[in-house]
Amino acid sequence: MMRKSMMMMAASVAVLVGSFAARAQSGGRTVWDGTYSAAQATRGKAVYATSCAICHGEGLAGIDVAPPLMGSAFLNNWNGTSAGDLFTRIHDTMPLNNPGTLSGRNVADVEAFVLQANGFPAGDVDLPSNAAMLGGTKIVTTKP
Ligand code: HEC
Repeated sequence: MMRKSMMMMAASVAVLVGSFAARAQSGGRTVWDGTYSAAQATRGKAVYATSCAICHGEGLAGIDVAPPLMGSAFLNNWNGTSAGDLFTRIHDTMPLNNPGTLSGRNVADVEAFVLQANGFPAGDVDLPSNAAMLGGTKIVTTKP
């Protein structure tokens, strides 16, 4: 019984990993593919209000030395990188006055909010809170 459910679990993990690998190989997965859920972006909005807005502004337009997190200046900085790169940047260096204090889930949620604010579409599943899993998702400013 135990062994059977372990095998089934292993099988479903293999399927999951396989589909990620397939998408990564087709070179295709981008932030245009519905990589976060609307509910996640709503949670991220709350994280943003608490931990980011004081420097980056309520509307993500930036204040003084804190750059905007939406619009062409932001997108040009991140075009060609991955959702994993952005995750790591936020996770390791933000909030600037208290880096490393957000959980992986909070970082993924706030990233979902930033993606939404930049016009990338929501999908059915949450952005994973894991930089490695996000590495295959490219940030590209124009829809492929
Ligand atoms: C105390 C002020 C402060 C807070 C709070 C803060 N930031 Fe920042 N952030 C900055 C400054 C200043 C920079 C630019 C200098 C640097 O990169 O260290 C920056 C840079 C960034 C960048 C890089 C932007 C680019 O175009 O490359 C991202 C992404 C970012 N912040 C996200 C966040 C998120 C998400 C939060 C909330 C979890 C947050 N920041 C909280 C001050 C802050």
